[in-house]
Amino acid sequence: MKRKKISIIGSGHTGSTLAFIIATRGIADVMLVDREKNEQPMKGKALDILESGPILGFDTHISSTVDYADTQNSDIVVMTAGVPRQPGMSRDDLVQINEQVMIEVTEQVVRYSPNCTIIVLTNPVDAMTYTVYKASGFPSTRVIGQSGVLDTARFSTFVAEALNVAVNDVTGLVLGGHGDTMVPLIRHSQVNGVPLTELLSQEKIDAIIARTRSGGAEIVKLLGDGSAYYAPSAAIYEMIEAILFDQKRLLPVIAYCQGEFGLNDLYIGVPTILGANGVERIVELELNDDESVQLEQSAASVEKVKAALKQQF
Ligand code: 2OP
Repeated sequence: MKRKKISIIGSGHTGSTLAFIIATRGIADVMLVDREKNEQPMKGKALDILESGPILGFDTHISSTVDYADTQNSDIVVMTAGVPRQPGMSRDDLVQINEQVMIEVTEQVVRYSPNCTIIVLTNPVDAMTYTVYKASGFPSTRVIGQSGVLDTARFSTFVAEALNVAVNDVTGLVLGGHGDTMVPLIRHSQVNGVPLTELLSQEKIDAIIARTRSGGAEIVKLLGDGSAYYAPSAAIYEMIEAILFDQKRLLPVIAYCQGEFGLNDLYIGVPTILGANGVERIVELELNDDESVQLEQSAASVEKVKAALKQQF
């Protein structure tokens, strides 16, 4: 079988951490891509990861480049390029800087890998995924944003901590935009089948929801320079596995809604089936009144960022 190829645009903390995770799992060769000003440190990171292979026992090849021609025939391309937020900034403050980066990068990606699937992580991620979709001309099934897997992982972490239970027994589902208005669906949160509402008081659940919503900001504040990267990289890795191995996972990802949940022409976090064809379908759950209102509010805040894009497609 032909070796799979994943190109990662941006060799910062997230790009290089993701490269390391992919390498250790041995699922694909990796091409790290960045601008010339970052070429030397990027080469260093790629070589450093490669040199861990003999110890960890993988033979994945990690290379780096500043020339998009080297990304040719990638199966998956991950967009992490752009500016991360700093303490005091919201993800939305990054919109115009990162929009331009996304447009330039997408042109190059599409030129060399017209059949790839693109996963976007750059913030504000809902709007950036929309930009990449429009700039790529790809079917929406092959342009996907990451947020729900990360937000759900944060939620599950906090639930496991509060209950002192195995995190692997916790399931959750966080929908909506990747921001303060995200929508953790408590009705669909369980610990090995036991509804969360039977295990935690409403007060504790509310505190977990609030902490999940500001989970990214909590890390930004602690790091003091830049944003989270271990859990975001892990989240992208889970999506990559679902696509490369056609796992048909039910995962919340940023997908293009065309009527689903009453939303139109909008990229936002919704439950999907993720497989070899990318977003194979959006799972349109029945929401109760409260959840519907929350999702509407979240969609309105994503619409606002989308309206701030310079390029109105
Ligand atoms: C986060 O939530 C980077 O937006 C990302 O940490």
